[in-house]
Amino acid sequence: MLPPALALVALVLGVVQPVFGLWPAPQSYSKGSSFLYLHHNIEITYNDEPVRWSSCPVRGSAPRILTSQQLPYTWGYTPRFPSSKELVQAGVSRALGSIFSDGFVPWMLRKRGQLYKFEPDLHQGQKWLQKLDIIQTTHDKPCTFKPLAGEVDEAYNLTISADGKAKLRAVSYVGVLHGLETFTQLFFQHSQGPFWYTPFAPVSIQDYPKFPHRGVLLDTSRHWFSVDDLKRTIDAMAWNKLNRLHVHATDSQSWPLVIPSMPELARKGAYSPDQTYSPDDIREIQQYGQHRGVEVYLEIDMPGHIGSVAESHPELIVAYDAQPYYWWCAQPPCGAFKLNNTKVDTFLDRLFADLLPRVAPYTAYHHTGGDELNANDSMLDEGIRSNDSAVLQPLLQKFIDGVHSRVRKAGLTPLTWEEIPLDWNVTMGKDVVVQTWLGADSVKTLTGMGHKIIDSDYNYWYLDCGRGQWLTFGNGEAFDSFFPFNDWCGPTKSWELIYSHDPTTDLTPDEAKLVLGGEVAVWTETIDPQTLDSIIWPRASAAGEALWSGRTDLSGANRSLVEAAPRLVEMRERMVVKGIRAAAITQQWCSMADNNNGTACEQRVM
Ligand SMILES: *[C@@H]1O[C@H](CO)[C@@H](O)[C@H](O)[C@H]1NC(C)=O
Ligand SMILES: *[C@@H]1O[C@H](CO)[C@@H](O)[C@H](O)[C@H]1NC(C)=O
Ligand SMILES: *[C@@H]1O[C@H](CO)[C@@H](O)[C@H](O)[C@H]1NC(C)=O
Ligand SMILES: *[C@@H]1O[C@H](CO)[C@@H](O)[C@H](O)[C@H]1NC(C)=O
Ligand SMILES: *[C@@H]1O[C@H](CO)[C@@H](O)[C@H](O)[C@H]1NC(C)=O
Ligand SMILES: *[C@@H]1O[C@H](CO)[C@@H](O)[C@H](O)[C@H]1NC(C)=O
Ligand SMILES: *[C@@H]1O[C@H](CO)[C@@H](O)[C@H](O)[C@H]1NC(C)=O
Repeated sequence: MLPPALALVALVLGVVQPVFGLWPAPQSYSKGSSFLYLHHNIEITYNDEPVRWSSCPVRGSAPRILTSQQLPYTWGYTPRFPSSKELVQAGVSRALGSIFSDGFVPWMLRKRGQLYKFEPDLHQGQKWLQKLDIIQTTHDKPCTFKPLAGEVDEAYNLTISADGKAKLRAVSYVGVLHGLETFTQLFFQHSQGPFWYTPFAPVSIQDYPKFPHRGVLLDTSRHWFSVDDLKRTIDAMAWNKLNRLHVHATDSQSWPLVIPSMPELARKGAYSPDQTYSPDDIREIQQYGQHRGVEVYLEIDMPGHIGSVAESHPELIVAYDAQPYYWWCAQPPCGAFKLNNTKVDTFLDRLFADLLPRVAPYTAYHHTGGDELNANDSMLDEGIRSNDSAVLQPLLQKFIDGVHSRVRKAGLTPLTWEEIPLDWNVTMGKDVVVQTWLGADSVKTLTGMGHKIIDSDYNYWYLDCGRGQWLTFGNGEAFDSFFPFNDWCGPTKSWELIYSHDPTTDLTPDEAKLVLGGEVAVWTETIDPQTLDSIIWPRASAAGEALWSGRTDLSGANRSLVEAAPRLVEMRERMVVKGIRAAAITQQWCSMADNNNGTACEQRVM
C-alpha cells in the first residue's frame, strides 16, 4: 500500500507504480518510490552489536559476544557446519548471487515496450545502497537447527532508508534467511546494462509467520526423485518461506531407502539400483535444508502402505499385491505388516535403530504413517485370520505404542496420519502430531480431543488431484462405469482454491492453537522428475502465503485474489529465472496488462 501522500503524488504525475511483489506478503510494511542501486561492493556486517544471551542456554559453551563481523559477499558460499555466522554468510551469498546473476529484467510484468517507464534513468544521478547491517538478537540454540513447531522465532524486520542504509534484524538465523529472501525480491536487473535497482526506497517491513509448520509432502515411492530434484524443491521452498519437507520415503510401490544393516530392503525393494537414497544422500538433503531453514523429515508409512518390504522380507507382510486390490487396500499393490508377529517387532527394532540416529541430528520429527489400513488384510494373516475391529484394535494399539516409543527413544517426536486416532480409536501421547487429510471435521474432532495437528485437506491441498486416471479399463463394464476416467479427488486444485484454505476455520481459539500449520501433498502416481516443478510451483507458493501471512489480513478480511495474483505472477517469474519450471497461472497478456496490477483480468459477476 502506498502511504497516502505518495499515492497522491503518483496519481498527479500519472506515474504507474510497480506492484510491490513480495511473496509471501509481509505482515506489515511501508514503501516509497525512490530508486536505489545495488553494487557488488556493498558493505555487509553481521552482529555489529553485542548478541544477547538466549533463554535456552547452549550447553558447554560460554556466551560469546560477536562484534563487528564483516561478511564479504562470496559467490556460492557453502557452510561446513551449522554455525549461525556461516549459515548467514551462505544466505547472504545466495541472496546477492540471485540478484546479480539471475538477470531478472521484468519485461514480462510490464506492457509491451513500456519497461522503460518503470526503470530508473541510468543517466540521472544514481543513489547507491551502501550498507546492509544484519543483527541477530539472540544466539541460536541447538534446537534452532532442528526445531519442533514453535521453537524458532522466524520474525525479521527489514528497513532500507532513502539514503542507502539497509538493516535486517532477526531473532534467529532462520529469521535472517527469511529477511534476505525478502531483500532479493525488492530488486530487479536493468534492461540497459549491468545495474540492479529497487524502485521502492525507503522500505520498512515487519514480518513473522502465522503458522510454524509450513510444508510440502513429496512421495518418493510411487516415483523416485533424484537428490538434485529434492534440493531444487528445497531451494524454491526457502524462497517461499516454506520450512518443512516431509519425504514420504517408502510405500508399497518401492523402497528407495538404503538401510545399511538390511541392504536387501533397497536392493530388492527399490525400482532399480539407481533409484535409491544412500545414508549420505539423506544427510546431504537434510543438511541442504538445514542451511536454508527447511527441516527435512522422513515418513516410513506403516502398518499399511508397506508392501515393498515383501520383496525382501515376505514373512513380515500380508496381502502383498493381493487382487482384486480394492478388497485389501486403496490402490495396487497392497501390502501391510502382520499385526501380531514378533518378527515384525524385531525388524522394526533394527530399522529404527539404523535409520533414526542418522536423521535425528537434522530433524525433531519422524512420521510413522498410519493411513488407509484395511482390516481385511489381517484375514490373510495366519496369526490372526480376522477382520473384526474388536480383534484388531488392541493389536494395532500395541503396534502403534511400540512404534511411537521407538521414535521417542531416538529423541524424536512422532507424527501419524489421522486414521490411527480417528478410525481405529488408538490412544496416543499428546506429543504426537496428527496429520489430517480428510477435511475440516477431522481437524475439529482431533483438536477437540487436544491433539496437535498439521492439515493437508485433500479438498484444497492435494496437488496431485484432478489429472485423470492412471488405472486402465478393459472394454465393457469397467470402461463404461469409469468413463470419463476422472481421478478420485478432482477437480484440479487451482492456486485460488489452495489460497482460500484456512485450516482453523470453525475452530474455537483453543482448538485453533493446536493447529501447527499444514502441508501441500504431492502424491506421485503420475508425477515424476519431468513434471515435478510444474505440479508444485507456484501452487505451493499459494499455500505458503496462506500459512505465512494468513488467509486473512490484519483487519480480519480475506486476502484478495486480485491483489495476490500479480505478486504471485512475479514470484513465479522469479522462480523461473532461477531454474524452476513453474507453471503459468494466467496468460501472459494478463501478467503484462495494466502494469500487472491485477484488475485487467479480474472476473466480475456477470
Ligand atoms: C520489529 O519491529 C517491531 C516494531 O518496532 C518490534 O516490536 C519487533 O521486536 C522487531 N522484531 C525484530 C525481530 O527485531
Ligand atoms: C473386505 O473384503 C470383502 C470381500 O471378502 C469385501 O466385500 C469388502 O468390501 C472388503 N472390505 C474393505 C474395507 O475393502
Ligand atoms: C497374538 O499372538 C499371541 C502370541 O502368539 C497369541 O497368544 C494371541 O492369541 C494372538 N492374538 C490374536 C488376536 O491372534
Ligand atoms: C470382513 O470380511 C467379511 C467377509 O469377507 C466382509 O463381508 C466384511 O465386509 C469385512 N469387514 C470389513 C471391515 O472389511
Ligand atoms: C471407535 O469408536 C467409535 C465410537 O465409539 C466406534 O463407533 C468404532 O467402531 C470404533 N472403532 C474401532 C476400530 O474400534
Ligand atoms: C472468507 O472466505 C471464505 C471462503 O473461502 C468465506 O466462507 C468467508 O465468509 C470469508 N470471510 C470474510 C470475512 O469475508
Ligand atoms: C490498474 O491499472 C489501471 C490502468 O492503469 C487503472 O485504471 C486501475 O485503476 C489500476 N487499479 C489499481 C487497483 O491500481
